[in-house]
Parts: sequence; structure tokens; C-alpha cells
Amino acid sequence: MAPIRFISAILLLSILISCNNNKSSVFEETGPQTPAMLEHVKQELVDPPALPEHNQVAEGEPKVVEVRMVIEEKKIEVAPGAKIWALTYEGTVPGPMIVVHKNDYVKLTLVNPADNKEVHNIDFHASTGALGGAELSKVAPGQEATIRFKATKTGTFIYHCAPGGIMTPLHIVSGMNGAIMVLPRDGLKDENGNPVRYNKAYYIAEQDYYIPQDGNGNYKEYESPAKGFVDMQKTMKELTPTHLVFNGKKNVLVGDNALTAEVGDKVLFITSQANRDTRIHLIGGHADLVWPGGSFNDKPATNYETWAIPGGTAVPALYQFRQPGKYLYLNHNLIEAVQLGAKAEVQVEGTWNNNLMKQVEEPAKIQDE
Ligand code: CU
Repeated sequence: MAPIRFISAILLLSILISCNNNKSSVFEETGPQTPAMLEHVKQELVDPPALPEHNQVAEGEPKVVEVRMVIEEKKIEVAPGAKIWALTYEGTVPGPMIVVHKNDYVKLTLVNPADNKEVHNIDFHASTGALGGAELSKVAPGQEATIRFKATKTGTFIYHCAPGGIMTPLHIVSGMNGAIMVLPRDGLKDENGNPVRYNKAYYIAEQDYYIPQDGNGNYKEYESPAKGFVDMQKTMKELTPTHLVFNGKKNVLVGDNALTAEVGDKVLFITSQANRDTRIHLIGGHADLVWPGGSFNDKPATNYETWAIPGGTAVPALYQFRQPGKYLYLNHNLIEAVQLGAKAEVQVEGTWNNNLMKQVEEPAKIQDE
């Protein structure tokens, strides 16, 4: 018996050691790549809620992913009668989602066209050093700059403008924020460590706006972004947004523009909030998987009813739709969702499952006992 016990102990020990070796520490430096020698690919950015074309599992060696982002300052109507000088990456609020894999390099050219008025830059929460790249990417109107960073951490991360001082929150609450997803090279894993793939992915950002009002309660309009900044600072200091919306404007992800899915689809919803805490709920569903704080390096949590998005994060949640019909995807401070506008709809097609939900009796007059 003794030799068998000895052999089993050795076997167990070697399994434990090999398991340990497979897990790399968050402190480990990854890869000796020289970016110049790696393949360079261009990523075409698309308007949220869409994500750019990407592979869920990385192919081959890490790449240098080249992205060109043009800053656009433009007046938009966020709700009837409420206009703001939106400060945007690529003309959308939020800015476009970037998707790469761990150990890829992001090579970003930030362009500030001459007809803009403000100085801008970009701080990537996914990057390391130089205030997230903000120090190296500051561009005045008429300038462009290029930065490159290695995506060493997996997860979903926000990026935002950070010109310094009061300009940082002013630009963020004027719309200048977006997100990047850094996928593990072998793709996402479920709670048991098995591969999980999404059929669709959507990027939704909650945006808080602080639009000044005149004495009659009408929203004020300004000739340029700078002209509204003094009034806006006073509104911001109240810490109560006048508008809180998904993807830039009130009611843009509802009705004909609702998000869509089919029964059986696993949908990855990535939600960001660059400035303020929020809490997301899918009415009629759940987060089957959610990666709290946005980290793909940790095991996902399961079956959440509502999940937190702390200000300054992007959080991914995956849900497989089991029933057709309309779902609401919203901030479950329902006053903020309904009165301020932080909500979206998901329209799901497919066959109803009576086993999961059934109306046993239609509403009818109460019967006397
Ligand atoms: Cu800016």
C-alpha cells in the first residue's frame, strides 16, 4: 500500500504545481514583443451601441492595433429643448468602443481639427503610465498626436478626456468618454472556467449632463463650449444631473432603435459610466454572468439581478435570452431611468416558453367566494 500512497502523493503534488504554473500573476511582465516587428492592423471604429468587427479568440501573435480618432465639438439636443455643446470622440456620445486582446498594442492617433475650439486629450484606464496617456496626447485645435500602449490587463475599461483641472469633469460631462475591451487571448470563460462566446455585443454608456437653466426654467444655449462653462460648473456642483441618458440622447435606444436579439442568443452588454455610480437591471432577465469592476482576469459572478457600475468603469454582463418580447435595460434608480432618461429597450424574437412564464388567468372581475 505504501508505494501506491507515495505515488499518489507525488501525482497530486505535480498536478498542484502544474495548476499553479498555468496561472500567471498580475505582477508578471508579459511578452518580450517589439511592437515594430508585430503585424499592424487598422481597426475601423463604429458608432455605439455597435462594436467594431473583432475575433473573440485572438489569432496568432499579438498585433499593433491602429486606431484614428477625430474629435468633434458639436451642438446636440439631448432631450426636447435641451441643447449642449457635445465634446466627442468621433462625433458620438459615448465615443466608439475599441476591441483588442491582451498583449496587443493600441496605437492611437488623436486628431483635433482646426475648427474645434478646445484642447483635448485621452486617458485610457486600460493603459499604464503618463496619466493613462493623457500627458502624451494633448492636442490643440489643428494638431494630432499618436500614442501607443500595451494592453496588459484584460477587461472593459473606460477612456475619457482629461485636459486637467476643472476641464476634466467639464469635458467628461460634455460627452467625452468611451470604452475599450481587452479580451483574454483565448476568449471569455464562464464561472466554471469553460469557454463562453457571445452571439451579439452592445456598448451602452450612461451619460450625465448638467445643462444650465434660465430664471424661467428654460435650458440655456451658448455660442461656443467655453461660453457655457461658468454656468455649467454651478449646475455640476449641485451633483444632480439635469439629464441622465443612454448613448448621448434621451430615448435613442428605444422603439425602432431598440437593441435586438433572438431567443437563445447570448448577448454581451458592456455598460460604462465615466463620472457617476449607477446600477443596471434588465427587466425580465438577469446577468447570467457579470464581471464586477470589469475585470476578465477574475471569475465572473452569476445570476445577478442588478449590477453596479462604479463611476469611472465599464462593466460587462452576459445574458442568454430565453423568452421573446420587450425587455427594459435600465438604471434601477427608476426615477433616473424614467424621469431623466437612463433606459434602453431590447426587442427579442422567438418562441414563448410557457414553462418559464404563463398567464394562468387573464385579468377579470374579482369572483365572490
Ligand atoms: Cu476634451
